[in-house]
Amino acid sequence: MATKPNILIFGGLDLLVAALASQLIPPAPAEPLISHLRVVDKYSINPPTKFFPNSLLKLLQERQDIIEYRQSNLTNPAAVSKAYTDVTPNGLPYDYVIDSTAELVPDRPVELYIRNMFDVALNIARASAEQLSRTPGSIKAHIRLVCPFYEHKKDKKRYAEADPEGWKVKDMRGVWGHEALRAIASIEGLPLVALRTGLVYGNGFYQYEAVGLILLGLVYKHLGRDMTLLWSPDLPKNLINICDFAGVVWKAAEWMSTKTRNEANMLAGVPIPPSGDPSVTKENAPNVLLPSSGSVTVPLFNMVDESDATQRSLSEVVGRVFGVKVKFQGLIKGLFAGMKLKEVTEEANQAHMEAWNEIIMNSKPPVPSTPLSPYMPLSLVEEHGVAMQADRLKSILGYEFQYPRFDDRAVRDYIDWCRSEGIWPEIDTPTSS
Ligand SMILES: *[C@@H]1O[C@H](CO)[C@@H](O)[C@H](O)[C@H]1NC(C)=O
Repeated sequence: MATKPNILIFGGLDLLVAALASQLIPPAPAEPLISHLRVVDKYSINPPTKFFPNSLLKLLQERQDIIEYRQSNLTNPAAVSKAYTDVTPNGLPYDYVIDSTAELVPDRPVELYIRNMFDVALNIARASAEQLSRTPGSIKAHIRLVCPFYEHKKDKKRYAEADPEGWKVKDMRGVWGHEALRAIASIEGLPLVALRTGLVYGNGFYQYEAVGLILLGLVYKHLGRDMTLLWSPDLPKNLINICDFAGVVWKAAEWMSTKTRNEANMLAGVPIPPSGDPSVTKENAPNVLLPSSGSVTVPLFNMVDESDATQRSLSEVVGRVFGVKVKFQGLIKGLFAGMKLKEVTEEANQAHMEAWNEIIMNSKPPVPSTPLSPYMPLSLVEEHGVAMQADRLKSILGYEFQYPRFDDRAVRDYIDWCRSEGIWPEIDTPTSS
């Protein structure tokens, strides 16, 4: 590429954009690696429709010379196409397209997953294909992110990309994210690379598994009690720091940029089997690939760090940083006096949130409006493993991790980032009970 690339990102304003943009547009005097970045998402930033990090808002504000943000309705194919055809600052078409869209909220009606997950991914992939037919060779990589909505319960097993057992979807988000991947993978000539991520944590995250655990470390330090976790300590919780998540996205785009889809399939192709869910019908989604079409091959990389994290390893790190003891308790009969998981979770959340309120109000200064929260929705407390092998990141992409492990440094760097955002509760000593 003679000129630096133009990048188009869909979704990910609350996840990928800050981490990727800060790598691609380092502080001056370093030169940006790209010409232009257009971010298209459903959220409004002015006024903000959700909590965004100050560092992201500042970056969008200060680097308007390179980054353009637009709010758009991605379920509308015309709005998606417009993001490609509206002229770029250097007049050249987009080189890399990154589809980071997903519907993350569990337990919603199936139509909603079809519209927000399947239709959106297909709108974006088709718009990429249209640009390629207008300007052959223009798009060099179309990246699609795949969420960890798969069932990996077995303690010992780690699933490689091509292991069909690793592709068993765990819920409706999984079904329609999976079917979206199959549908876009079947578009002829699309320079697609799929990245299947583990659990994500790090700067910009305010809750979910690993961050939630860090906040619970502070809660139990404050309470002066041991932290008790459900399920087996060996339950796999493979994860990746958002810095590396963004780093792999970029590495994969560069890797794809020098290859045809067939060449990429030869090196990293994985057959993606049908989800097998009964909701997958032409009546529900006319553009879906029926199970009778069999598997579809797509170049794909699992995306987890090198720590092969489990509940035990994560909680050991958090326990060490906060000086809290961690215990494990299966949900066995008698222990919770016949309570169901839902009730156990509600009771625990209530106690955690009471302690959390004390923590944020007694902090010096108080941080009452911090977005950080140790609240754990039931869907996160249920016994779900995430178990992946990601050797290909090194062997094929040659990726070097910034955070190869979830360790004390990763936790402390995350806390320091929260401090720089003014959202970390500064509370000096744990109260004794
Ligand atoms: C988004 O676009 C879709 C398809 O054109 C339309 O049905 C829907 O009402 C739009 N949503 C909003 C919030 O405008």
